[in-house]
Amino acid sequence: KPLSYEESIRRAGDALKRFPLINVQGIPLMSTIAANWKSVSEFSPDPSDLLIATYPKAGTTWAQEIVDLLLHNGDAEMCKRAPTAVRIPFLEIFSPPPIPSGLELLKEMKPPRVIKTHMPIQLVPKGFWDNKCKVIYVARNAKDNVVSYFYFDQMNLTHPEPGSWDGYIQKFMKGQLSWGSWYDHVKGYWRERKERNILYLLYEDMKENPVREIKKIRQYLGVLVSDDVIERIVQLTSFKTMKDNPMTNYSFIPKFLFDQSVSPFMRKGEVGDWVHHFTPAQSQVFDEDYAKQMKDVDIPFRFRI
Ligand code: A3P
Repeated sequence: KPLSYEESIRRAGDALKRFPLINVQGIPLMSTIAANWKSVSEFSPDPSDLLIATYPKAGTTWAQEIVDLLLHNGDAEMCKRAPTAVRIPFLEIFSPPPIPSGLELLKEMKPPRVIKTHMPIQLVPKGFWDNKCKVIYVARNAKDNVVSYFYFDQMNLTHPEPGSWDGYIQKFMKGQLSWGSWYDHVKGYWRERKERNILYLLYEDMKENPVREIKKIRQYLGVLVSDDVIERIVQLTSFKTMKDNPMTNYSFIPKFLFDQSVSPFMRKGEVGDWVHHFTPAQSQVFDEDYAKQMKDVDIPFRFRI
């Protein structure tokens, strides 16, 4: 008797979950991405395509929702036409169904498209720069970013096992997590932001004053959206609203791939949660290493609220 669709994807998920990481040009990537690397690197965007780039857990989904709403003049129903990952394809992802593969989705979509990536700047397909595509980058302070990633790696059963918190911080500092070094990632886009016309945003600024930051995106995109609609977009993209919205909270991904009973995708959405996780000793080691790794840049991150 043939297997049902649900059963076959469940079995595929069981067989494939927790992919190991493989180095691609010095960056550890999930083996499925590494295996398909050539087709990703050759992806050719249209000049009208927009890229949203982040290190994982820096507020990608939040930025995606803001952008989709800005492009649809704050039309909430329109932005519920499909889950975030379907509306805004994740360029390099190849995971078991029903996680949609980025390149497959992009084949079916006509430009202008919004595309998500976690690639460090040197791995972004050349076509984005040749075609002068707009790029929005969101960075989040390292300590909250690593906390969020730690919880995510526990619930995301396609990623390697996170192990202990202490060991996880070490891996983060050494750039051994999926998509590589946070330090190199945020610095890479920062250094190129003027040259390549990248809108560089900070998660903490978005929390502090979402109206101000969404207006920056409005201006960058050059869309005609009224201030009233911006106020509405702030409400529609609040943490609470997005947590309750089935189109943004990743509830469409089944438990054998994203086990949200371990940790919800929309976990806390706060600045400064790291103080509940780092011991003073861990914080000191992290700060000393941070000072070394970040000494050559002046990105205005804030650790504390
Ligand atoms: P926490 O784990 O700290 O809660 P990404 O989308 O890049 O995977 O990032 C996920 C992180 O962004 C999670 O952080 C998530 O809760 C937070 N987040 C998602 N939507 C948000 C929103 N509307 N406002 C604030 N934080 C949000």
